[in-house]
Formats: sequence, structure tokens, C-alpha cells
Amino acid sequence: NYYAVLMAGGVGSRFWPVSRAAFPKQFHDMLGTGETLIQRTYKRLSKIIPPQNILILTNAKYDELVKEQLEGITDQQIILEPAMRNTAPCILLSALKIQKENPDALMVVAPSDHWIEDEAAFVKDIQASFDACQREDMLMTLGITPTFPNTGYGYIQYDQNEASQIKPVLQFTEKPNVKKAEAFIKQGNYLWNAGIFIWSVSSIVQAFQQNLPKMFSLLYSGIDYLNSEKEQEFINSEYPKADNISIDYGIMENAEDVRVLPVNFDWNDLGAWGALYDKLEKDANDNAVVKAKTVLRESHGNIVKTNREKVVVIDGLDNYIVVDEEDVLIIVPKNKEQDIKKIRSQAQEKY
Ligand code: GDD
Ligand code: MG
Repeated sequence: NYYAVLMAGGVGSRFWPVSRAAFPKQFHDMLGTGETLIQRTYKRLSKIIPPQNILILTNAKYDELVKEQLEGITDQQIILEPAMRNTAPCILLSALKIQKENPDALMVVAPSDHWIEDEAAFVKDIQASFDACQREDMLMTLGITPTFPNTGYGYIQYDQNEASQIKPVLQFTEKPNVKKAEAFIKQGNYLWNAGIFIWSVSSIVQAFQQNLPKMFSLLYSGIDYLNSEKEQEFINSEYPKADNISIDYGIMENAEDVRVLPVNFDWNDLGAWGALYDKLEKDANDNAVVKAKTVLRESHGNIVKTNREKVVVIDGLDNYIVVDEEDVLIIVPKNKEQDIKKIRSQAQEKY
């Protein structure tokens, strides 16, 4: 009864210029392990889900990339979106498909671009979550102990008085401003949303019916076509009409019966260059160098990445991101990593 939905339709624009619209970060070997992020995620999920029950949701333009990178994957496992509508519509579509095939199914929804080292701990926590969702209707997410007021995450306030491992969620706040994030962390009973969700298909479909009824009607209107030859035709004509909204804003902030399992495996969402820097090995001056031939002098705390044969000399530079690609070179302070999305559009408008 176990299924997985792997979301792989994002662009990863804060990792520009390595991550491109034509080749986003989930298809890159960001840490030089020999495997891309989506390959690692697929492998991790196969430890607990039968591979034929793992669905990949992605934009139509990444069809070939998915097939190249995930060996043995079948067309039935890949769902192609004609337009980017964020995570709520893609989760509803996959839940409806799975429910039609197996009404008793339990599913895990996972981003394709996260870094999780300890597969055994991950599998154990997913198993515990499946067990809980089997016993009772609930929408579950995994919670990470926050370390700083990151404004790119969802914050989960949980009930401290609950003795069991899985805690009732009092409030879910997606991407708060920095003041709120600081206050949350100070208060203590808050976790970061890992962005990995577990539920029964019936619970999540019902939550859509209640919280996003328009989206539910739109996609449910094609229930007869799902898992049939006419599925893609239906998706191509109706999916772009769905509202552009994430599961976090659309469902998690408003739904009842949300629970969180605090987890301890080391999790990194590789959301921006700083997160990657944290994971990489550093030299004696805290510089992280990826595949570059460098000479670093009196320089500290930089991340330097290039895939090219060129020798890079840096003198007197602290805390910068230096990334050299074929057609783009960026030199941006690490504390401005969140601006790279904007910088990318600026550069693209100009050139
Ligand atoms: N199929 C598909 N279609 N996938 C998508 C789409 C889409 O239109 N948009 C985004 N994704 C994929 C991304 O590739 C990524 O793997 C995942 O969905 C999550 O999207 P992000 O855009 O990375 O979300 P986020 O990082 O801003 O926020 C989410 O993750 C945080 C943890 O990393 C939220 O769930 C936060 O609450 C959470 O803290
Ligand atoms: Mg993300």
C-alpha cells in the first residue's frame, strides 16, 4: 500500500548559474558524490517503497532528463506537467491517480533536491509515519530542529504537552518574515517543516476538497481519464488552469489534524549556496572548493566552484560565492545568497 511522489519540477534559481531552467539542480551532482540529487532521492525512497509505486512529477521539459537519470523508470511512473503551478496541484493530481489505483494507499511526498545522509534513520521515520497514518486520519510532516531564523522555510508550532513521539500541530506558518522567525525560535516549541509529507490518499484528497475546493473540482473532473490513455490529454488541457499555490500555503496552514514527527537525521534542503557550503569539506581557512584548481591567498570562508580547466587565483577575499560556468561567472557575497534569484533575472533581461 506504500506509494511515493517525488516532486522534481522546480527550477532551483537560487543556485544559478549552475542550476538552469533547462537543467535544474535536482539533476546535478551538487556535492560531487557521483550521483545526482534526484538519483539519490529515488534510491532512498526505494528502500521502503516498491519502485513501480514511486511517481515522479515534473515539468514536461524534464522528461528526457528523468529518463536518462533514473534507470528502469517506466512512462507510467512519470507525470508531465505542461505548466509550473507549484506543489499543491501536482500533489492533488498524484493523490487522485494513486487513490484510483488503490483507495487504501499511503503516500509520502518528497522533494527531489534535498540532502539526507542517514538512509536508515530516514526509512525508520517514514515507516513510523506510515504506521501512524494507517491507524488514524492525519496529515503528517517531518520536523527539523531550527538553528537560525531562516525565512525560506515553514515553521511548525507543536503541542509540547503531548507525550508521544508524534505531536499535534498548533499552527503552521509558511515562510514568516525574519522578526516572526526569530520570535518562533525564541519561543522554543517550533520546528522547521522538512517538506516531506506522509498521509493516506483519502486524508489528503479530503483536505483538498475542504481547503482548495476549486482545485479539487478542476482535477477531479478528469477522474475517468486518470491512469488511462487519455490522461496526458486531460492534464495538458486542464492542469494549467489550476491556481499556482504551494501545499504549504494551500493546505498545511489551514488543515485540521496536522501532526509532526520531530526527526534527527541530518537534513539539508540545499536551498542556496550557503546550504551547500555547509555540507562541503573546507580547507584550513574555511574555503570550500568544488572541482576547481585554485590558489587561495589570505582568503577565508569562500565557496569556489568551477568545472573547467582554468586555474583560479583569489587573494584577499572573504565569505564570497565564486562560481564559474561556461557563459557566466558570479562573484557574490555569501550573505546575499537569497538575492541570486533576482540577480539571475536581472542578468537574463540584460543579456
Ligand atoms: N512537480 C513539480 N511541479 N514540482 C515542483 C514545482 C512544480 O510546479 N514547484 C516546485 N517543485 C518541487 C521542487 O523541485 C522541490 O523539490 C519541491 O517541489 C519544493 O519546492 P520548493 O520551491 O523548493 O519549496 P521551498 O523550498 O520554497 O519550501 C518548501 O520546502 C521547505 C523545506 O525545504 C516548503 O514545504 C517549506 O515549508 C519547507 O520548509
Ligand atoms: Mg526547496
